[in-house]
Amino acid sequence: MAKQRHPAFVCQECGAVYNRWKGKCEACGGWNTITEEAGSASPMAGPVATRPSRAKGRIFPLEGLQGETKEAPRTPSGIAELDRVTGGGFVHGSIILLGGDPGIGKSTLLMQASAALAMRGERVAYISGEEAVAQVRLRAERLGLGQAPVELASETNVEDIIATLSQGRPPALAIIDSIQTMWTETVESAPGTVTQVRGSAQALIRFAKTTGTAVILVGHVTKDGQIAGPRVVEHMVDAVVSFEGDTGHHFRILRAVKNRFGPTDEIGVFEMSDQGLREVPNPSELFLAGRDMATAGTAVFAGMEGTRPLLVEIQALVAPSSLGTPRRAVVGWDQSRLSMVLAVLEAHGGLKLAMHDVYLNVAGGLRITEPAADLAAAAALVSSLSGNPLPPDTVYFGEMGLSGAIRPVAQEQARLKEAAKLGFSSAVSPQPRLEKSKNSKGERLPLATSAIGHITDLVANVAARRRKAS
Ligand code: TYD
Ligand code: MG
Repeated sequence: MAKQRHPAFVCQECGAVYNRWKGKCEACGGWNTITEEAGSASPMAGPVATRPSRAKGRIFPLEGLQGETKEAPRTPSGIAELDRVTGGGFVHGSIILLGGDPGIGKSTLLMQASAALAMRGERVAYISGEEAVAQVRLRAERLGLGQAPVELASETNVEDIIATLSQGRPPALAIIDSIQTMWTETVESAPGTVTQVRGSAQALIRFAKTTGTAVILVGHVTKDGQIAGPRVVEHMVDAVVSFEGDTGHHFRILRAVKNRFGPTDEIGVFEMSDQGLREVPNPSELFLAGRDMATAGTAVFAGMEGTRPLLVEIQALVAPSSLGTPRRAVVGWDQSRLSMVLAVLEAHGGLKLAMHDVYLNVAGGLRITEPAADLAAAAALVSSLSGNPLPPDTVYFGEMGLSGAIRPVAQEQARLKEAAKLGFSSAVSPQPRLEKSKNSKGERLPLATSAIGHITDLVANVAARRRKAS
């Protein structure tokens, strides 16, 4: 069959195809990302029709949306924190992309999941394109999983892998570690190029869909947080899961970025130990461990990650600046969100911050995306500037508007319950919509809340603590 050939110049970041070289990719704005991929067929060119069409002209099922469909069958991994993120286990025939920085623990996590499944009698294949069989085996032994009957191979050719997996009973789970090392004979570009990654992923997706095997593709992440190359497969897979964490800290967060079969806001929390990854069923305890309660500038935020409440410490340092343009640095939170909170504190809270450096840190290396953290961040900032420590038994949550108004946030009850469980006795939170000591369903709130409606209340609150203390 004659393939339609194009001189293809492909952006290695986003996969955009050009017919001549350019310095800058117009699609993603990347510089020097376009390389020639010799002789590759244009991905736009579909298979050339050689037979007369057998199109039926009947593609709609009669029942439409009312038709009966069973819930997608799943295989739980047995690792609760992993199953929480996937939505209850690996859906048969689905394909998951697991991204993360090198060394974060992707191979470790997947080896543990494979072993757990294999121990329960499922057929599991672990294909490593990066490490030799001996290396993978050594790691499994260190993890105490040497006895698990996982089928292990070191291979990079997708056709060989699929031919091997197709023998006998289809595996329940196949791990491809990593997709960047795979190559397929159907594409002529060099391994590691976007075209190869896309071609290999396509072949593996077809295998997953036809056999019902759940396939996990490992993808490396570049410095700017993008899944390099495999970004082009993000839209082809059923779920994109990222494994995050700071290599300086021992815990890791598993987060679903996209999930066709489950939630995308759940996180799984693990701790890296010398025996591999350990599940952390109660992350708040972990994130609050070693908290300094006597120093000004720290506030505990009662947050939510999906359906799970999570308490974390937010630390702020506001110090006089020696620079013309004061420094603003933030770790674990959004930089523009910090700028907004600072602007509101200046405009409506009466704080003078223009001559101060401001540092904000979410303790433990967690990354917060919820706007509900505004109030906790503001409390930490006000506390640091004024030098008054906040009460150690209080949690903070609430979204701040540009007018300085504190707006209610979702799942108040769950946040308060978690705080009560961990020994906190009060909360500073937005004005509840109903009665003061009850929530919207009429249930009693599990701890005393002091509701504030405007940022000036917070500033007055913190200032009052100084008067009490002196
Ligand atoms: P790995 O799973 O190889 O990372 P990835 O596949 O994401 O590149 O994990 C490597 C790191 O994990 C390495 O720095 C050592 C550490 N580690 C432990 O701390 N304990 C363990 O039991 C194992 C297996 C690894
Ligand atoms: Mg690895």
